[in-house]
Amino acid sequence: MSTTTDFLVIGSGIAGLTFALDIAKHGTVTVLSKRAPDETNTRYAQGGIATVMAEDDSVEAHKQDTLVAGAGLCHEIVVDICCTDGPQRLRELMERGASFDRHEDGSLSLTREGGHSARRIVHAADATGHEVQRALLEAAKKHANIELLENHTAIDLIMQTSFGEPDHCVGAYVLDEQSSTAEKHVVHAFLARATILATGGAGKVYLYTSNPDVATGDGVAMAYRAGAEIGNMEFYQFHPTCLYHPRAKSFLITEALRGEGAILRLSDGTAFMERHDERKDLAPRDIVARAIDYEMKRTGHDSVHLDITHKPADFVIQRFPTIYEKCKGWGLNITNELIPVVPAAHYMCGGVTTDLTGKTSIPGLSAIGECAFTGLHGANRLASNSLLEGLVFGHRAAGRLQEEITSLRSGPWPDVQEWVTGGAVASDEAVVVAHNWDELRRTMWNYVGIIRTNSRLQRATRRISLLQEEIREYYWKHMVTRDLLELRNIATVAELIVSCAGARKESRGLHRTLDYPDASDGMKADTIVKRGVAAHLRSSPLN
Ligand code: FAD
Ligand code: SIN
Repeated sequence: MSTTTDFLVIGSGIAGLTFALDIAKHGTVTVLSKRAPDETNTRYAQGGIATVMAEDDSVEAHKQDTLVAGAGLCHEIVVDICCTDGPQRLRELMERGASFDRHEDGSLSLTREGGHSARRIVHAADATGHEVQRALLEAAKKHANIELLENHTAIDLIMQTSFGEPDHCVGAYVLDEQSSTAEKHVVHAFLARATILATGGAGKVYLYTSNPDVATGDGVAMAYRAGAEIGNMEFYQFHPTCLYHPRAKSFLITEALRGEGAILRLSDGTAFMERHDERKDLAPRDIVARAIDYEMKRTGHDSVHLDITHKPADFVIQRFPTIYEKCKGWGLNITNELIPVVPAAHYMCGGVTTDLTGKTSIPGLSAIGECAFTGLHGANRLASNSLLEGLVFGHRAAGRLQEEITSLRSGPWPDVQEWVTGGAVASDEAVVVAHNWDELRRTMWNYVGIIRTNSRLQRATRRISLLQEEIREYYWKHMVTRDLLELRNIATVAELIVSCAGARKESRGLHRTLDYPDASDGMKADTIVKRGVAAHLRSSPLN
């Protein structure tokens, strides 16, 4: 049986909920999340939201910092929009109930992160994302037009065909884990006047990541299967400092620690960033991540160390309460001990290509937030610009769709096929899925990580393609589970990262290859890939 709604939003992070709250007075909104609605990348954001709120800062400076980090590939008009509109979007977020740290005089307390020339990161201690997620979710729960459905995993987009070609998105097939049992899975067809992907990142494609388990690139994979254009997937950002501890899974040590004076050291205590960049510990994070990778390989050590012991303990505990408490729980007192850290996959700069209002290349389908490629980040995202992008583009997509909704409503609902299970049976071989997950993530870590080469990419291509064959076979034989759907999606994302990386024959921003060590002016373009069309470079119309 199909369910209808005006706006189907796939994802309940900052982008999806900002869109939902902005559009809700114009129609019914259904927001899906794979797990609980607050289990998102947004919720784990630590550092904050970059936007110009200080009198001695300027939008021009924020733009410049974003462009420098983006290494020549940012779409300048998008940078302009995000930096200019940021302060207003932040004020709206505060009106929705989000509260950020302030000084005694009431002004916002702003921190600094790598690549920023000024203090401009608005934060809630070291748990900014938690506060943002809480406020948006509370506001969404109160809105009569917004329905939040948790444990609902979108499987694939529903495409309407004309002249035999799929050309228009009319919703999504969704696995309802709330109603499913081990013997029978329940899949609904959700029909919508507009479908909005807000599915976040894909950190789980790599063995080590700062991201929670939901980050499996589902939006990009679904859009790719439906025929959408995908861009710049080679630019996967590695955060320099994730905690290296056997019991800590995916725990980030925010860049704001370095913003407040923390220093990266080798295990003998030597500070090493000055050897790599004149901005030392506050260089953009691609430079810091590569420097750490280099030093770890040079010394043969498993991690480097972050040192904030020279700051007063009271300050550290008050400014970074979450990190202090978490580390204490693992037996590490950050006020008097060095913190072992390693780089880990953190942020997907590429994604589903969109225009300035979140419109993708498929009619009926929008993409916002981390799953979208708007052109803001170019070859490397400036710290704390992604929550900003989620706010700005969630709002802009809502602005466009509120204009379009009346005409979108004028047509009849399409007649769509119910989900067909065929002869699929419950899997008795969960071990196969687990093994494929591990092999895929290791392949990406070892061959498509911080430093790449042509031969590593070729090896990765062969392994991914073999794994995809097995996954496909398994997928058609067995009942869909979230685990299997996610595996299929990370395999697609891996394929896209490798194919985009192969097309970029230079080193720029986050993409470093030993075979082409320098940036090339001829390659100052985006990498575009589409089902049936190999990855190729295309100059941005928005530069
Ligand atoms: P998310 O917040 O990730 O939400 C994705 C949603 O999509 C979830 O609800 C998920 O369940 C849902 N979903 C996914 N697939 C499906 C599916 N198939 N069906 C149904 N639902 C689906 N950025 C900053 O700007 N500042 C920071 O300080 C910062 N710190 C960070 C710290 C950490 C540890 C991490 C991981 C990221 C950080 N980032 C930071 C990045 C930032 O948090 C994310 O880019 C941003 O929150 C993404 O928001 P989003 O709305 O696009 O997606
Ligand atoms: C951090 O707090 O270091 C993460 C900031 C970001 O990813 O933008």
